[in-house]
Amino acid sequence: MSSLEEPLGVDKLPSMSTIDRIQRFSSGTCRPRVDEIGSMGDFWLEGRNCSTSNSCNDDDDEYTAETFPWKRQTRDFSRDESLNQKASTKTRKLKKFGKIDDSFSEYQYSPMFKNKDIPNSTYKFLECIPRFVKIVEVGPRDGLQNEKNSVPTSVKIELIHRLASSGLSVIEATSFVSPKWVPQLADAKEVMQGVHRLRGVRLPVLTPNLKGFEAAIAAGAKEVAVFASASESFSKSNINCSVEESLARYRAVTRAAKELSIPVRGYISCVVECPVDGPTPPSKVAYVAKELYDMGCFEISLGDTTGVGTPGTVVPMLAAVIAVVPIDKIAVHFHDTYGQSLSNILVSLQMGISIIDSSVAGLGGCPYAKGATGNVATEDVVYMLNGIGVKTNIDLEKLMLAGDFINNHLQRPSSSKTSIASNRSTADACLQDI
Ligand code: HMG
Ligand code: MG
Repeated sequence: MSSLEEPLGVDKLPSMSTIDRIQRFSSGTCRPRVDEIGSMGDFWLEGRNCSTSNSCNDDDDEYTAETFPWKRQTRDFSRDESLNQKASTKTRKLKKFGKIDDSFSEYQYSPMFKNKDIPNSTYKFLECIPRFVKIVEVGPRDGLQNEKNSVPTSVKIELIHRLASSGLSVIEATSFVSPKWVPQLADAKEVMQGVHRLRGVRLPVLTPNLKGFEAAIAAGAKEVAVFASASESFSKSNINCSVEESLARYRAVTRAAKELSIPVRGYISCVVECPVDGPTPPSKVAYVAKELYDMGCFEISLGDTTGVGTPGTVVPMLAAVIAVVPIDKIAVHFHDTYGQSLSNILVSLQMGISIIDSSVAGLGGCPYAKGATGNVATEDVVYMLNGIGVKTNIDLEKLMLAGDFINNHLQRPSSSKTSIASNRSTADACLQDI
């Protein structure tokens, strides 16, 4: 076992001195309007035109609180078979209160209306948040790569279909990596065959080198992702080469992709800390981000692989990257080892980031960063975004059903707090009726 595979200890927690370095950001750091930024990368083929409304300017129509009457949040199923029938009856009763994803309390913040009883200054905490957030679902790849037992191909395919039906527009499907290194994803070609009929959803796959890129294209992939690291030790452990060697490989991949008009996403791991190398300097993350962006990656995803980051370490890191890569090309990718993901996401949104990676049911981890837990659960991200009036176009109920599907298969409870709470409240409601 390499030292990267040791469980993370409290000694790996970010220090308070880092937190002291937090840079204050104000409305001046609002992300620019999309039309001020220019188009995506040269060869980017947008599947859905969904990221155009993330503006700080409040130029939407005025809405009143009456437009959004209070609606009870609920879902329409129970995991417990014995409660299923009762649950659906109960749900029908609750359904009259409306859907989960458009419910607003009159005392809740929404970018579309402001309550006259709440002082204007209160809104400053939320008004810089983008109106629309693109969620990149990484569960089928980041989640399932870390399972002890391989998940059957048919289950992976069904999961991707269920996730797509929830409205997710980007679902990372699998990886074309060495099956000796990641046997859990050795069925990448079969997974791609099983999802090739899906329309209206982008299905990127991870490719660590030209060999993986060629295999991905042969299997029908229309979008790929390369994955570098901001830490030398993690790079060695994860892809068996130095950071510079990986960038050279990725230049070859992006060149080949450009010839085929295939969009390439770029990941950076250990953007906050590496279990071996220690805290990662924000300047190193910015360096790798700029290299990936300059070679043609249309989007740069910043991975807190070990999930140790807090807003104290995430804000300076983001500030460094925002200085060299346009803000609408930056995504955040938080693993939830220390339960910090949602707070890290909230500060990222406040800084203007509008792309979030997450994983259904909080599945995930990296086989080469043992002790790191799953990604932030997509259900929890969508629930929070709904709560602050940010659109995602995702149906939370269907998303939770997809989470239940994979958890039933894995025979373990969800890591999504939203899913657990929702199941509990549905079951409680049913028991009251018995
Ligand atoms: P290597 O052993 O150094 O490569 O692995 P090699 O070029 O010496 O080849 C060794 C063998 O692998 C050869 O086969 C190659 O043909 C084969 P052999 O002759 O021994 O039979 N090979 C491949 N097979 C299939 N697909 C390929 C491929 N390339 C070589 N693409 C390599 C180097 C990069 C391939 C290996 O280290 C690897 O596959 N690593 C993948 C690690 C991985 O997938 N990690 C998890 C994803 S990253 C992550 O989770 C982080 C992220 O979520 C963000 C975050 O959270 O921070 C993205
Ligand atoms: Mg990850």
